[in-house]
Amino acid sequence: MTPLGEKIGNNAHKRGETALEAKKLVKRFKTGRTFIEVLKGVDFDARHGDVTMVMGPSGSGKSTLVAALSGLLKPDEGHVAALEADDLWALSRGKIDKFRLDHCGFIFQGFNLFPALTAKQQVMTALKYQGVGKGEAARRAQAALESVGLGPRVNQRPSELSGGEKQRVAIARALAKNPNLIFADEPTSALDGKSGETVIKLLRAAATERGAAVICVTHDPRLEAYADRVIHIEDGKILDDVRRTPDANPASLSH
Ligand SMILES: Nc1ncnc2c1ncn2[C@@H]1O[C@H](COP(=O)(O)OP(=O)(O)OP(=O)(O)O)[C@@H](O)[C@H]1O
Ligand SMILES: [Mg+2]
Repeated sequence: MTPLGEKIGNNAHKRGETALEAKKLVKRFKTGRTFIEVLKGVDFDARHGDVTMVMGPSGSGKSTLVAALSGLLKPDEGHVAALEADDLWALSRGKIDKFRLDHCGFIFQGFNLFPALTAKQQVMTALKYQGVGKGEAARRAQAALESVGLGPRVNQRPSELSGGEKQRVAIARALAKNPNLIFADEPTSALDGKSGETVIKLLRAAATERGAAVICVTHDPRLEAYADRVIHIEDGKILDDVRRTPDANPASLSH
């Protein structure tokens, strides 16, 4: 595996500091004439250097929570502070988009790849939007794809990749940016044991080596061993929040 944290955007010194804090998030969806409340006053925080895992049954509000935390879906009530944004949802749409571009990496259930682009171009495009020059983007894209085991597949398009390979392209794209906040929603769902393990280790390394705050929704029990914190959500409420590693010192983990 190629280390991604060799350069750029290192926040390891911030380990243990709060990266994101949400208070009393409420989200309702209209279905017919009634509203269903999907988030019922959720408080949430995540720290630099931590892998924070969110678990819970299907429909419990996990993806909705991640969307509200990451500037994708405006909550009806509540407040999100993330990095230097004291009130994320008070920013203009453009500023929220800029915040997401500059600081967030996303790994979602659907891969959102461009059909016409090769694996390498997918990753380079994400970097180009961030203002990274072409040569540097190519170098980082190659390194990110190699780190997820896709070195031999860099010139293939999504139609020529398996589901697990597509998922790994999406992961390489998110990690190549060296984001401060990483939002992952079921990142290992399409992967076999070995690829799943690779991805989990990359997320762990992003937190430990670069101080990223990793927020990961998953049903995958393998991930629990790599998490600093495990938060259970059920029916739009946090049930419990368990820290598995010493506070402010996740680097002491022995994997
Ligand atoms: N746009 C929407 N309109 C109406 N209801 C919605 C909408 N999006 C989500 N919901 C409902 O909100 C609830 C929570 O959805 P969410 O996607 O957050 O669940 P989840 O915990 O991520 O589930 P899963 O594990 O299946 O991905 C579900 O009951 C879902 O049907
Ligand atoms: Mg979901």
